[in-house]
Amino acid sequence: MFAHQPARKLDALGPTNNFPPYAGNVKEKHLPVALFDTLFLHRTRHLSTGCAQMGNGFGLRRRWVRVQSLTTHLTMKTAVEVCPLCAGSGWKPVPGAPEVGVTRCDCQLRARGGAMIAAARIPKRYEHYDLWNFDYEGQFSYLEHARLAADQFVREYPVRKTGLLLIGGAGTGKTHLAVGIAKALIQEKGIECVFYDYADLLKQIQDSYNPSVQATELGLLRPVFETAVLVLDDLGSVRPTEWRWDTVRLILNTRYNDRRTTIITTNFPDDPPGALAGKRKKKPDSNVQNYSELNNEPDQPEWSKYTLGDRITETMRSRLHEMCRIVKMDGPDYRQTSKRAGSG
Ligand SMILES: Nc1ncnc2c1ncn2[C@@H]1O[C@H](COP(=O)(O)OP(=O)(O)OP(=O)(O)O)[C@@H](O)[C@H]1O
Ligand SMILES: [Mg+2]
Ligand SMILES: [Zn+2]
Repeated sequence: MFAHQPARKLDALGPTNNFPPYAGNVKEKHLPVALFDTLFLHRTRHLSTGCAQMGNGFGLRRRWVRVQSLTTHLTMKTAVEVCPLCAGSGWKPVPGAPEVGVTRCDCQLRARGGAMIAAARIPKRYEHYDLWNFDYEGQFSYLEHARLAADQFVREYPVRKTGLLLIGGAGTGKTHLAVGIAKALIQEKGIECVFYDYADLLKQIQDSYNPSVQATELGLLRPVFETAVLVLDDLGSVRPTEWRWDTVRLILNTRYNDRRTTIITTNFPDDPPGALAGKRKKKPDSNVQNYSELNNEPDQPEWSKYTLGDRITETMRSRLHEMCRIVKMDGPDYRQTSKRAGSG
């Protein structure tokens, strides 16, 4: 897939390691044979005759092999250094519409891509999440609409900047898809993306709060506010407090006002506050023996008892509807599905 390497890497390799520094500038066909011999053949005298010419043509054969290897070396050097798409300029005609002008060449995007992925803060455990390894066919065809939405988003960004709100139960592939989108944007378009887990982000903001100046470290918040595409994973995963509501409101409103894109994942159903209140009955009925059954089982996940409105307020839920296209990812937990497939 990667037929050539970025020039930056090649520079780092340095000049021709096994050759004199000027060897790269000379063409072997112009090289005087005597100089060529001195440089590369290091002829030794014949042990018995003392003649440097070496009988039976052996010396000539050796010389031919060396010339060949130098030619190969120079050819390879040229092939890896010059990108065939842009001839080294870093710009290529806009695909399908060369009359429009030029765009950054793939070789430039690849060279920058590695550094940008590192800067995107994608946790190690999610590093292998990509769009190409996201299943959406056969038994996973219920995820086809989500994968198509991801493809469309990558294709249309930044002409269309509406984000995505991926909603679904545990293990339905929300984080996988969100990370895959971010990586595709970085690698294919050189767009700056940053990943934050919602709970981690709130904790970091809280930890960086300096009571003496009554402010949070701006260095931490800058990428959250300013990155072109923010992936906010597991929105609502920690219990709300006034401070958390204020913080999430500030982040989302700032990004919305600045027309920046946010991709969000959440387990909480997209309903107003209180819609699942019936599932949270706290007081046991004196007639009911099995309290845990009525109370929706103590080990039931939070998101089966609360809505997105409960977790981030109704105002922010409706703001998300303006900022994002909603993509519901219902289905079984992929971890269980793949485990069953593996054992069966
Ligand atoms: N469609 C898919 N194709 C390939 N792998 C998938 C798919 N869906 C999920 N997975 C894999 O299943 C695991 C769980 O996926 P992921 O972390 O994206 O789930 P999630 O919806 O974010 O779950 P949670 O709500 O618990 O955060 C990961 O290893 C992921 O790579
Ligand atoms: Mg997740
Ligand atoms: Zn190029």
